[in-house]
Amino acid sequence: MAAMPCVILISGRGSNLQAIVREVVAGRLPLEIRAVISNRPEAAGLELARRAGLITRVLDHTRFTDRETYDAALLTLIDSYQPQLVILAGFMRILTAQFVQHYRGHLLNIHPSLLPDFPGLDTHHSALAAGVTEHGASVHFVTEQVDGGPVILQARVPVLPQDNAETLAARVLSEEHRIYPQALRWFAEKRLHLERRGGHDCALLDGKVLASC
Ligand code: GRF
Repeated sequence: MAAMPCVILISGRGSNLQAIVREVVAGRLPLEIRAVISNRPEAAGLELARRAGLITRVLDHTRFTDRETYDAALLTLIDSYQPQLVILAGFMRILTAQFVQHYRGHLLNIHPSLLPDFPGLDTHHSALAAGVTEHGASVHFVTEQVDGGPVILQARVPVLPQDNAETLAARVLSEEHRIYPQALRWFAEKRLHLERRGGHDCALLDGKVLASC
């Protein structure tokens, strides 16, 4: 199968980017990574991408006056690479409705919680504060609702009595590195779709609805 052209957006460390690149290089994930774009010039993931021989671009959000102008410039930059898939891998910005609609059905994110639990930031602190016994990560389609798009795949981990936010985050992160490439593989193989059904956004794998939607 021909590799699917994609662009990856990051803001920081880039460990999910690294996990994706590893699978692509190993021939287990049919993606052609056309560019890695960061909104932060100092993002460590940019160096990882360069070392992997990928094209990197920085679009610094601090140089823009408002979210609409930034997202419009980001959209133009992304589209210059003609991707069929845009992968958010620790891209720490809320996206405008115009941006999200433009990539509807072609925009995926990974979030460090079992959505719909703990949307937003500081999910590991929130999970510990709530006293849950299970936590995890979710891959989802991005829609206008922040962290609210239909879930594609989740990984569950136990919360242990001695956990702090760092130990819990590390346990979740190693699962992120497993499930994100898996979900991306489905998308690259054209098995995964976002569809509107009964007024709701639904994720479908091989034509079957993945979760209640
Ligand atoms: C991950 O926890 C991801 O779930 C969240 O941001 C973090 C990014 O980490 N969206 P990394 O940059 O991929 O290491």
